[in-house]
Amino acid sequence: MIKVLKYILLLLFIGLVIIQFINKPERISEPVSENDMIESLQVNADVAGLLKAACYDCHSNQPRYPWYASIAPVSWSIAEHIEHGRSELNFSEWATYSARKRDHKLEEMVEEVEVGNMPMPGYVALHKDANLSADQFEMLKAWVEQERTKIAQESN
Ligand code: HEC
Repeated sequence: MIKVLKYILLLLFIGLVIIQFINKPERISEPVSENDMIESLQVNADVAGLLKAACYDCHSNQPRYPWYASIAPVSWSIAEHIEHGRSELNFSEWATYSARKRDHKLEEMVEEVEVGNMPMPGYVALHKDANLSADQFEMLKAWVEQERTKIAQESN
């Protein structure tokens, strides 16, 4: 029985080694653009810090990669989250969004955080500073409301 277990573990280990060489996802690292949300809206340091700590790893062109992001199959899952996250909302391209889209995304930011979908729970488990406190949520909400008011005024 123990022999079989050892054999299975060995096979798993060999499998893990092999997958390190296939399908290595490319790392995303682009310079901060003027279209970036924090840049273009001159977001205050507190909110900017929150967004960078809790959202920018999946919703920008400057994700920070932890050491385990190099190891398959974790690397595949992280790459998938970044690709999917950026396709829905990329803060690095904020200024290119229409007023309507910006307003909608701001609204969704609060909703997604409020119900606990964002930041993704698995991410929060590994990133303590992404675990937003009630105060941080209120700060984000107040800031979002302020930005949405500006958008409403601009489009009048
Ligand atoms: C670990 C990666 C990750 C982190 C961190 C993360 N997101 Fe996401 N986010 C995603 C993925 C993947 C999607 C698309 C799938 C989905 O909607 O669940 C998404 C979708 C969204 C959407 C929905 C967009 C739409 O129009 O439907 C919003 C809004 C959002 N995220 C906001 C945030 C905010 C705000 C934060 C930080 C407080 C954050 N996310 C942190 C990965 C992430």
